[in-house]
Amino acid sequence: MTEPEAPTAGVAMTAIGVAVIRARESIRSDRLYDDPLARHFADAARRSFGATPEGEQRWARLEALADTFFEGRSVGVRLVDDRMVAAVAAGCRQIVILGAGLDTRAFRLTLPADVRFFEIDLPELFAFKEPVLAAAGVAPKHDRRVIAGDLRRNWTEPLRANGFRADVPTYWVDEGSLGYLSRGDALRVAESLTELSAPGSQFGAGRFHVDRNLPHYTELGRLVGGEHHGEGRDLSGLGPDAESWLTARGWRTSFRSWDDLVAALGRPAAIGDPEVGLVLAVRE
Ligand SMILES: C[S@@+](CC[C@H](N)C(=O)[O-])C[C@H]1O[C@@H](n2cnc3c(N)ncnc32)[C@H](O)[C@@H]1O
Repeated sequence: MTEPEAPTAGVAMTAIGVAVIRARESIRSDRLYDDPLARHFADAARRSFGATPEGEQRWARLEALADTFFEGRSVGVRLVDDRMVAAVAAGCRQIVILGAGLDTRAFRLTLPADVRFFEIDLPELFAFKEPVLAAAGVAPKHDRRVIAGDLRRNWTEPLRANGFRADVPTYWVDEGSLGYLSRGDALRVAESLTELSAPGSQFGAGRFHVDRNLPHYTELGRLVGGEHHGEGRDLSGLGPDAESWLTARGWRTSFRSWDDLVAALGRPAAIGDPEVGLVLAVRE
């Protein structure tokens, strides 16, 4: 069998960094979740980076970024786990993960049997993910459908063609993905998912200030390269007006600060800014 090839540059590579974070969390005695497949992805990606001096150096830089982002990103995984369970308990039966990366919730969360997962990400991401999952010999616990496409183009038709139903309440997940799109593209994604959302659907939109001139964001941009990470670019994601934007389009919103959300998790992830947090939107 040929070795799966990981994206070693471009925005899809960012998913590997998050898998490294989840693999680290999973071996802690006080882990907030257990994602055994994250180690499979991290090991396979490490091999793709290669044993040349350049490959070794790029992998070391990726690991260093995973260190820097660890606390915030890892508690964030647990927060999405909890929100997903709550959304399903509230009646959502479809879960659409926008920019799913190496997410394995369809494999590791035990939800009601009729819950269906849709994962959307770029083709180069799934060209790595699917063979690694096959080599690991694992089956998802839930119906799982993969949409290899670009969120900046038409992703709604492939989603429907894969069995998505606009009359079934959906939980839409953006976990660190819409921030890689321009503001205009992110808002178009939000417009599209609004059209596809039956009453009772839920969408969690992060409200964060990202200063792309901070050294770790600059380093992330340099390592990933490509068009997505222009240094200093700040017009990305849904933006600071996400809440009023959603309210104007028929979503009922509530806001919880990040520090409030992470307080119960016992990790040093507080940031001391009450404006930063999560907008939870429920379709009326
Ligand atoms: C930081 S990763 C997060 C992945 C995953 N949500 C997680 O938390 O592990 C960002 C993901 O967004 C995906 N992405 C970025 N731009 C995209 C686009 N235009 N279309 C589809 N996926 C995109 C990347 O390929 C990558 O997998």
